Amino acid sequence: MAVNSRYIALKICLTVIEHGRSLSQSLAEGLAQFSDRRERAFTQNLVLGTLRWQDRLEAIRSHLLKKPLKAKDEDVNQLILLGLYQILYMDTPEHAAVSETVNLTKSLKKPWARGLINGVLRTFLRDKDSICEEVDKKPAYRYSHPQWFTKTIRNAYPDHWEQILSANNEPAPLTLRVNPLHQNRDAFLNLLSKQDVEADIHPKAPQGIVLKNSLDVTQLPTYDEGGFSVQDAAAQQAAYLLAPQPNEFILDACAAPGGKTTHLLELSDNQAKVFALEKEPERIERLSENLYRLDLFAEIEVGDASQPDQWWPEIQFDKILLDAPCSATGIIRRHPDIKWHRTPEDITALTELQAAILQSIWPRLKPGGKLLYATCSVLPQENRDQVSQFLQQTPDAKEIPIDADWGISIKDAPGRQILPGQDGMDGFYYCLIEKGC
Ligand SMILES: C[S@@+](CC[C@H](N)C(=O)[O-])C[C@H]1O[C@@H](n2cnc3c(N)ncnc32)[C@H](O)[C@@H]1O
Repeated sequence: MAVNSRYIALKICLTVIEHGRSLSQSLAEGLAQFSDRRERAFTQNLVLGTLRWQDRLEAIRSHLLKKPLKAKDEDVNQLILLGLYQILYMDTPEHAAVSETVNLTKSLKKPWARGLINGVLRTFLRDKDSICEEVDKKPAYRYSHPQWFTKTIRNAYPDHWEQILSANNEPAPLTLRVNPLHQNRDAFLNLLSKQDVEADIHPKAPQGIVLKNSLDVTQLPTYDEGGFSVQDAAAQQAAYLLAPQPNEFILDACAAPGGKTTHLLELSDNQAKVFALEKEPERIERLSENLYRLDLFAEIEVGDASQPDQWWPEIQFDKILLDAPCSATGIIRRHPDIKWHRTPEDITALTELQAAILQSIWPRLKPGGKLLYATCSVLPQENRDQVSQFLQQTPDAKEIPIDADWGISIKDAPGRQILPGQDGMDGFYYCLIEKGC
């Protein structure tokens, strides 16, 4: 029997929204059912779009259907949102968007919902403009983000909040990092162009290449031999900021899957002594695979960065990279489910963990050494507030201001923030801290 893309899209949205599963995993499993590339792409667009615009679509739905559906009918609710998404954002003809959506009530074995969905979608088609105008009065609906998040971003970035929220709803580019120990960027671009793969250099990342279209990177030339890695240009800034040198002892405190570990090694000609620590044993496998494919070497240990006595107790490091566990709110455009999965309580717990790790690893930095604190977050609690507090409490810690042509600095606050979408990059925060001698 043919696989119905809209039905698979519905199932994926449900596992994410109702059962709280991660989008990446649910999407990969769902898309594996298709052999046809176009159907896969259609399903992926439908899922990502419906999740990106979930809050706005939900607001429209509640406008159309004053009485919410029962919890056991979340499938019908999500089906309505899928229909609304197609009408508003896809070039599906309106009648097809309605009839295909209505027909799925059969697959759900809920024939009673047929008339309801038909009525809701047809009313929307009739009154679309006035309903959207009403709903869009609230920024949280207009930009489709949770209320608490919209408020936090608005307060934190009075001049950029709309830019941030809009960028979170745009698809992200596929960016590669060319391995300079294997080939140079121009040579790789030439190889790609010979295979009709459209790509361009990234203006802010010396090893960065942006692909014009999404594709399976494992099929690109030099992948198997370690010619490049997949890494956003914002994440590529970390290794340049830490500037690893041969024979330096460098701790990568939260290392898996090793995007930055491998970059540190590449920039030191594989001669820095990089110690890669990671708490989750199941994530170590990806780290080892990446090192192996790129032909690089690091010491690896499973351990908790906030418990330094448990790992390499005798070593003090010249440099430390703390790519801290965070809310990942800088990469919402890649993982729209983050909007639904993160809560203010999660942010509090994460900031406590980040502070604990910072405090615990600081004694392991040599006097005169440098620590780079990094997150893929846009929340001040995890970034500038976190570092400000650390600097206040730690007399031998001093910020080294980052002089860069990317990101923004916030007045009187430490570090540099890349906003999502700025120069095509993910949202990221960096602060470089030096230890007094
Ligand atoms: C932002 S990711 C690191 C990404 C990695 N640096 C890269 O560039 O590929 C954070 C990592 O920290 C790990 N982690 C979380 N808590 C930790 C802890 N207490 N100690 C060490 N690692 C931890 C997570 O499992 C996750 O792999």
